[in-house]
Formats: sequence, C-alpha cells, structure tokens
Amino acid sequence: MEKRIGKKEKWLALLCSAMVLICLLIGCGLRIDKPGQSDNDTAEKKDSDSLAAENYITVGFSQLGAESDWRSANTESMLGTFTKENGYDLEYKNGQQKQSNQITAIRMFIQQEVDYILLAPATEDGWDSVLGEAREAGIPVILVDRMVNTSDKNLYSCWVGSDFELESKKVTAWIKAYTESKNIDPADLHIVNIQGSIGSTAQLGRSRGLANAARDNGWDLMAEVSGDFTETKAREVMEALLKRFDNINVVYCENDNEAIGAISALESAGKKVGSDIANGEIMVVSFDGVNEKALAYAREGKIACIAECNPLHGPRVEALIEAIERGETPDKFNYVDEKIYSYIDDISQITVDDVTYDVEKP
Ligand code: AHR
Repeated sequence: MEKRIGKKEKWLALLCSAMVLICLLIGCGLRIDKPGQSDNDTAEKKDSDSLAAENYITVGFSQLGAESDWRSANTESMLGTFTKENGYDLEYKNGQQKQSNQITAIRMFIQQEVDYILLAPATEDGWDSVLGEAREAGIPVILVDRMVNTSDKNLYSCWVGSDFELESKKVTAWIKAYTESKNIDPADLHIVNIQGSIGSTAQLGRSRGLANAARDNGWDLMAEVSGDFTETKAREVMEALLKRFDNINVVYCENDNEAIGAISALESAGKKVGSDIANGEIMVVSFDGVNEKALAYAREGKIACIAECNPLHGPRVEALIEAIERGETPDKFNYVDEKIYSYIDDISQITVDDVTYDVEKP
C-alpha cells in the first residue's frame, strides 16, 4: 500500500532541493579559476604577480618625436629594451617635436614617482626648471641622444649619444681629401647646408663642424637653411636654394632623410647628382646611415659620403641604469664609437684630431 506524503514532508523535500540548487549555483557560477587550477595555484600566482610588480624598475621615456628613420630606430631600441621581460615598467611619451610636450611628460613622470626619467631632448635650451623639479623629487634623469644646456650639470645624472661635431669633422675631412685628390680648387666648392632642427645638439655640432671646415679650407659656404631633419622640408628648402644660386656643387645634409628630399628636388630640377663636381655633378653628403633608401643612394653614388650616427641607445641606457642600481656613478658623458661610410673607392682613410678612420662600405 502506497504511503501518503504529508504536507510537512513536502515542504522538507522542497527545502532540500532549494539548498542543493543554491550549492550548485555557488559551486559553478562563482568559480573563476581556469580549469585545473587549484586554490593554491591562484594564491601563488597572485603573490608572484604582486612581487614582480614591486620588482619592476619604473622608467618614463620622453622621446622628442618621430621626424626621421633614425628616430624610429632609436625609439624601437628603447622600447625593445625597457620591457617587462627585462624587468622594466615603461611609460613612453612622444613629444611630437615640441619641447612643451616633453616638459608636460616629465612632470607626469614626476607625479607617477618613476624610478628613472629618460629624456631625448628636442633642443638644448630651456630645461632648467623641469629638471630642477625632477631633482627635487629625487628622480635621476638620463639624457639620450641630444644634450641639454643647463646652468647646473647636476640637473641630470649622465648622457649617452653621438659626438655630432666629430661626425661633421669626418664628413668634411672626406670632402677635403676627395676634392684634393681630384685637384679641385677649394674656392670652387660652393656649398649649401640643409641644417637639422635648429638648436638641437645634432644641428649645432654638424653646422659648427662645417662652418669651421669651410673657414679653414677656404670653401664657399653660401647658405645654411633648416630642413628640420625631414625629407619634405629638405625638398622645399633645396628647391628654394636652387632658385637663389646657380653654382651649388655640394649639398651638405644634416641627416639622410634630408638628403633624400634634396636629391628629389635636384633631380626634378634636371640636375645630375654625383661626385664628379668638375663635370657639373652636384655632390650630396649626409649623416646617419640608417635609412635603406639613403644606403641604396650611397651604393649608386648619389650620396657621396655618410657619417654614421648610431641610434641603438636602448642597451646603452640600460647599462647606465644598471650601474646606478649597483650604487656606482657612471661617466657623465658617454660617447658612442661611429664609422664613416662611402662607396667611392678613391679615399680609403681620413684623419680627424690625430685619429685615423677607415672609410667603410655600409
Ligand atoms: O639627434 C640625432 C639626429 O636626430 C639624427 O641624425 C637625425 O636623423 C635625427 O632626427
């Protein structure tokens, strides 16, 4: 005989089912671990994450802009070095060619209390106040590529980059050796300088080197106009220079992007670009050795000579940080060794300040 289920038993059964359902929901719905992950795994992961976060060296990098292939290679080197895998937490800011943007970025880094500020300054002047603020905050500043002109050198820890005037001395020594080898009278060299961004260390050094060489050798330095280290501006500047002068036979470009722009303007105007000045060619010389098109032009003889400017500063800056972390004081100024390139075989070596450099093929 079937047993009748009473009201009380029905309620009890309902209550039990509800409790089972609640337990199931809690068990399935609220669990966020990955399959196979135990509570212990999760706790350990959390611990190691926070430990790693604490161990990162925090770095703020203010890059001046993206005007050239050199700059892109430099940014890549920095971003590729200051990675989480290498133990860094990097905040990167592109200054878009404006010092005011870079100053804003540095103030932001100071607020974030980063461990190091890395600065590739657009121009040399105007950094005293903001670097003073970084010093107040106890944050070491490492300068990359270009220098700053400050009243107090202790406003930054150290600098790494190129000797821009030496680069210029190499190019001008090459021009001198080459033109002498062709018996060209120095007074017959009619040079225009397409300068870099005015007030930057690269421009100042390269322009000074040329001005001194022109004075010492008796060359005719006819004009100096900024091409802002860009191809577009250099093309415009070259077009304007061709309207002003009909006897240009050397175009000194303060980087490869400018050389590409200048060559485009020269060829559009029907000029022959090359090193045979005596027969009416216009010689182009340049700096960097990074841009592929410029290197191809060098192989074709359209760029007669290039002084290397090496952009791979990431590992160099990292070595400086490592030294500071070990409690050492790195050298204040750290110059990079650089080469001189030409595909023209006539000149195999040049000597600058008693040092002899082989002229290499890039
Ligand atoms: O400061 C380095 C110079 O800046 C490079 O020669 C040029 O290409 C860049 O923009």
